[in-house]
Amino acid sequence: MTTSDSTVAIIGTGNIGGRLAANFAAGGQDFLLAGRDEEAARKIAADLDGHAEAVSVDEAVDRAGVLVVAVWLDDFRQFIAQYGDRLAGKVIVDPSNPVGPDDTGTYRKVIGAQESSGQILAGLLPAGARLVKAFGTLSAPTLSAAAWREPERAVQFYAADDDAAGDLVAGLIRAGGFDPVRVGGLDQAIRIEMFGDLHEYGALGRTVTRSEALQAL
Ligand SMILES: NC(=O)c1ccc[n+]([C@@H]2O[C@H](COP(=O)([O-])OP(=O)(O)OC[C@H]3O[C@@H](n4cnc5c(N)ncnc54)[C@H](OP(=O)(O)O)[C@@H]3O)[C@@H](O)[C@H]2O)c1
Repeated sequence: MTTSDSTVAIIGTGNIGGRLAANFAAGGQDFLLAGRDEEAARKIAADLDGHAEAVSVDEAVDRAGVLVVAVWLDDFRQFIAQYGDRLAGKVIVDPSNPVGPDDTGTYRKVIGAQESSGQILAGLLPAGARLVKAFGTLSAPTLSAAAWREPERAVQFYAADDDAAGDLVAGLIRAGGFDPVRVGGLDQAIRIEMFGDLHEYGALGRTVTRSEALQAL
C-alpha cells in the first residue's frame, strides 16, 4: 500500500460521513470509505457509482493523505490516540461539534464555553499532521439539502493554519457542491463549531452565499 497526498478517505459512516460520501460522489470525487462496520461502508459505497471504495479504517489510514474523520469528539480523541504517529504528514479534517444531549432534549457544549474541539484535536495530533476544521458548520440534513445550490452555491466555512492543507480541503468542499470560505486559522475554529457565530446552530443560523459570508466575517 502506498500513501498518496491526494487520496481522500472518509472515516465514519454515520449521518455526516454518509452524507459527505454522497456529496463527494455527486461531484465526481473518488475516495475511500471506512467505518467500524465494514459491511455498512460497503453498502453505502455500492450506491455511489464507483466513486467510493469501502476499506477498513486501518487501510484508510495507511492509504489516504487526507482523512475526513466524521466521528464524535471522544471517538476522535481515541482515533488519534490509536493511530498516533501513523497520522504524521496527513491532513486531518475535523467536522466535530463538541456537544452532547442535555436533560431537556437539546444540545449543550461538552467542553469549556471558550474552547474549540478543533484546537483541542489539533493539539493531540503528532508533529507533521495538519488539522483543517470543515464540514461541521451545517446540520446533516442541510449538508444534503444545500449541496449544489443554484444559481449560487451555499458556503461552507473552513479554518486552517496550513495554507496547502486548507487549499486541499477547499477543493473537497467544492467537489461536494459548496463554495469554500476560509475564516482564518484554527484560532477561529470555534466560530464555525456549534453555537459559534458562523454556525447554522449559532448566531448566523442559516446557509449563506459567498457575499453574505464575507459580510458575516
Ligand atoms: N449530525 C449532525 O447534524 C452534525 C452536523 C455537523 C457536525 N457533526 C459532527 O460530525 C461528527 C459525526 O456526527 P454524526 O452525526 O455523523 O454521528 P453518527 O451518525 O453517530 O456517526 C458517527 C459514526 O462514527 C463512527 N465511529 C466512531 N468511532 C469510530 C472509529 N474509531 N472508526 C471509525 N468509525 C467510528 C460510528 O461508527 P459505529 O456505528 O460503529 O458506532 C458512526 O458511524 C460529530 O463530531 C458531530 O459533532 C454532526
